[in-house]
Amino acid sequence: MENHIHPKAFKVSQSQRTKRLNQSPKLFWFTGLSGSGKSTLANAVEAELFEKGYLTFSLDGDNIRTGINKDLGFSDADRVENIRRIAEVAKLMMDAGLVVVSSFISPFRQEREMIAELVGPGNFVEIFVDCPIEVCEQRDVKGLYKKARAGIIKNFTGIDSPYEKPLNPAVHIHSEKEELEESVQKVLEVILPKVEMKYK
Ligand code: ADX
Repeated sequence: MENHIHPKAFKVSQSQRTKRLNQSPKLFWFTGLSGSGKSTLANAVEAELFEKGYLTFSLDGDNIRTGINKDLGFSDADRVENIRRIAEVAKLMMDAGLVVVSSFISPFRQEREMIAELVGPGNFVEIFVDCPIEVCEQRDVKGLYKKARAGIIKNFTGIDSPYEKPLNPAVHIHSEKEELEESVQKVLEVILPKVEMKYK
């Protein structure tokens, strides 16, 4: 389809921005069930990166599903659109030179592959926050599993909507068996070398 859109070359490039910020933009993508602890871990990891001097930004339900994606629900199609828009936002942030930390259930393998494709496979780092659904359900921090079991919430991930586990994540966290600090260190070990500026 011809769309009459003509992308324009900008005078300031991504590589100029990254040189100024002295960091390699990356997308650290935390995926897992609701209640698996992915937001808590992503938050703690972002804090460590920021502390080390990197300019970071977090994307998660709080700033996405209440803002740019507030028109979307939890049907398969809406979840796909949710992730597509997030991936585009993350890409813009990476163009701005930022290190992006995101935390979404992102239950479909194909969508996660689409993100990697969009931002470049080397820039997408998948972190699987694995936790048995029984544990998430027992914690039920937001009381949503109870509502899903009662049929008040439909299409709940892990109950009546699928979660496709990552096949080859860069980091695999077992949040029910590890202390938060242990998981943070496991993630940092893998991601820190990736954000360092390779040339100065
Ligand atoms: S995603 O599937 O589209 O990636 P996302 O991470 O944005 O999901 O939002 C998940 C959060 O929305 C959950 O942690 C939970 O608090 C809330 N939520 C509300 N309804 C549902 C549902 N049907 N399935 C999963 N999470 C839901």
